[in-house]
Amino acid sequence: MIDNHTLKEIKVCALSADWDNAFQGASKGNRHLERVVRIAQYLAEAEGADLGVVTAGAWLHDLSLPTGDDYNYDVSKKHAQHVLHQFEITPNEREAIAECIASHEGVVPPRTHEAEIVHDADVLEKSGILGLVRHTWKLVHTGVIAPELVNDEDVKTVRNHIIWRERQLHSSTAKHLLTMVSATIDDFQARIIIQKTARMAGQGLITEVIAKQLMPFLNMDQQRHLALQLDLSHLDVRA
Ligand SMILES: [Fe+2]
Ligand SMILES: [Fe+2]
Repeated sequence: MIDNHTLKEIKVCALSADWDNAFQGASKGNRHLERVVRIAQYLAEAEGADLGVVTAGAWLHDLSLPTGDDYNYDVSKKHAQHVLHQFEITPNEREAIAECIASHEGVVPPRTHEAEIVHDADVLEKSGILGLVRHTWKLVHTGVIAPELVNDEDVKTVRNHIIWRERQLHSSTAKHLLTMVSATIDDFQARIIIQKTARMAGQGLITEVIAKQLMPFLNMDQQRHLALQLDLSHLDVRA
C-alpha cells in the first residue's frame, strides 16, 4: 500500500515536472493533473482498482512530457521506473505506476486495470471543448500549429485526435462521464475554438485561462459542458 506521505512526495514531483519542466514552464498553474487525479480516483472507486497506484499514476502520468517521450511506451516506462526509485514503494507498485505512465496516451493498450483507469481519466480531459483547447495548446507549444495561421488541416488534426482518444475509453463509468462532459460542436465552431485557442496559446496563456476566455463564444449547452469539465461538479453526484 502506498502511504499518504509518499503520495504527497509524488504530487510534488509530478507538479514540478508539469509546471516547471514541460514546455519550458509555459503551462505553470494549469489544473490538468489535479483534475486527472480526481477523475481517476472516482473511476477507481466505481470500477474497483488499487487507489494508491491509480492516484500515483494519475499524478505522474505526464512525467515524460518534458522530454517529448510521452508517446513512446518503452522510453517513457524506463524513465518512469528510474524516477520512481526515489519513493518508498515496492517493486510491484513501481511497475504498476510505470505502466500507468507509459500507456496513458493510448498508443499501446494499457496492460493493467489501473493503467486503463489513468488512461480513461486523461481521455476525459482531452474530450469535448476542453480537449480541443488542450490539444491545440499542445500543438502550438510543440511547433505543429502556427498560432496565427490555423488552417483546415490543423482543425482536422485536432478534431481527429480527440475522436481517436474518445474511442479508446475502456471503462463503462468513463464512457458514461464522457456523455456528461462532451458537448456537440460543429466544424464551424470547432474552427473558431481552435483558432482562438491557438492565438491565446501563442500569447502565453495557459489552458485554464483560455477555456474561461472562450465561454462568451459558446452556446449555453457548451458552456455548461465546459464548466463541468473544469470544476468536475458532476463527480460530486453519484450516478
Ligand atoms: Fe499525456
Ligand atoms: Fe495528461
